[in-house]
Amino acid sequence: MVAVASALPALRISNADVETFLDTSDEWIASRTGIRERRIAGPEVSLLDLAARAARAALGAAGWEAAEIDTVICSSSSPDETFPSLACRLQAELGCPHGPAFDIQAACSGALYGLGLAQSLIQTGLSRRVLIVSAEVFSRLVDWSDRSTAVLFGDGAGAFLVGGPDEEGSQIIAIDLGADGSGAHTLGTLPAPEIDLADRRPPYTRSARALGRVVSMNGREVFRFSTRILEQLVLRLAESAGVGLEGIRLVVPHQANSRILATAAGRLGLPMDRFASNVERLGNTSSASVPLALAEVAAKGELENGDLACLVAFGAGLTWGGVMLRWGPTAVAVDDPAAESDPGSGGPDMVREEAEE
Ligand code: UT7
Repeated sequence: MVAVASALPALRISNADVETFLDTSDEWIASRTGIRERRIAGPEVSLLDLAARAARAALGAAGWEAAEIDTVICSSSSPDETFPSLACRLQAELGCPHGPAFDIQAACSGALYGLGLAQSLIQTGLSRRVLIVSAEVFSRLVDWSDRSTAVLFGDGAGAFLVGGPDEEGSQIIAIDLGADGSGAHTLGTLPAPEIDLADRRPPYTRSARALGRVVSMNGREVFRFSTRILEQLVLRLAESAGVGLEGIRLVVPHQANSRILATAAGRLGLPMDRFASNVERLGNTSSASVPLALAEVAAKGELENGDLACLVAFGAGLTWGGVMLRWGPTAVAVDDPAAESDPGSGGPDMVREEAEE
């Protein structure tokens, strides 16, 4: 992994903002999920805009040209259209050569499925330099009259650049991907109900739903799956990497709910400070969540060369994915227009180049 980057929309929507039009409370949302605010892409921001910003941030940090990318892989569970793929749109937007470009659908595990695929494509010689972008606008996929799902999600994008063993970067030393389709009914989409959106709700709740469907989730069942699979993935990846849990510097998990992280941490006997967490500020950004969290901790300098970072994700499908990284000189960029007013994000357009270290 040569680079990791992220891009966020500027609009910050707090729990108090949501309280103004939904029967919910900051107290309920924060205590049950850890979420205090989320970012929302306003109507003028497209999914492609977010994806392109994350991709350009990664390319800029690594010093790669778009012309050097021979494969583009995107993941999104909130696409604007069924086809053409976001990856084809992004390839044209960036001006990448005409190698393969395709989307993968693995819900919140998409970025890690993408890393696994990129590694295989490079190992088999089909690709040399792969761009993976996970971009989500769940604000356009939730039913803003359903308090049990609307408060959970946020928008954002993350990108990885992956090259061959001759490139500087972090080493992918173990991969664990899987799915159990028998759990498909627990988290999916339903036809959007007829809602009178001409009421007093803010404009971002009125975005056209491209695919005409909204998120539906059995929260308790998904919670049980999430805590179990997170624990199992960390244990399996540690075993594959031949290390004990104490050898993992940071677990970088999918950010769905801080209680999921706390439960898994408790079962693993790991302190919470070994878990990267930004769910408080960004909510659940589906497949963008792991690259967003990794870019953030890396930009803050929380990973040093040689450290093991354990990336784990889980989501609809049901799917899961894990990647153990041995951190090395990796280019990092965070494109966050709202960072100046957000002390947790460490400054605007923060770019940390580690290549010379
Ligand atoms: O990204 C993919 C992976 N996703 C996940 O891993 C999510 C997993 N699930 C969860 O994080 C949690 O199950 C939720 C946060 C979704 C829900 O938390 P919960 O503690 O399981 O709540 P619940 O669904 O059992 O609901 C408890 C109560 C209900 O009221 P009653 O029936 O007990 O009177 C809900 O109607 O909380 C009510 N409720 C709310 N109240 C205020 C549900 N949503 C809200 C809300 N505000 N936003």
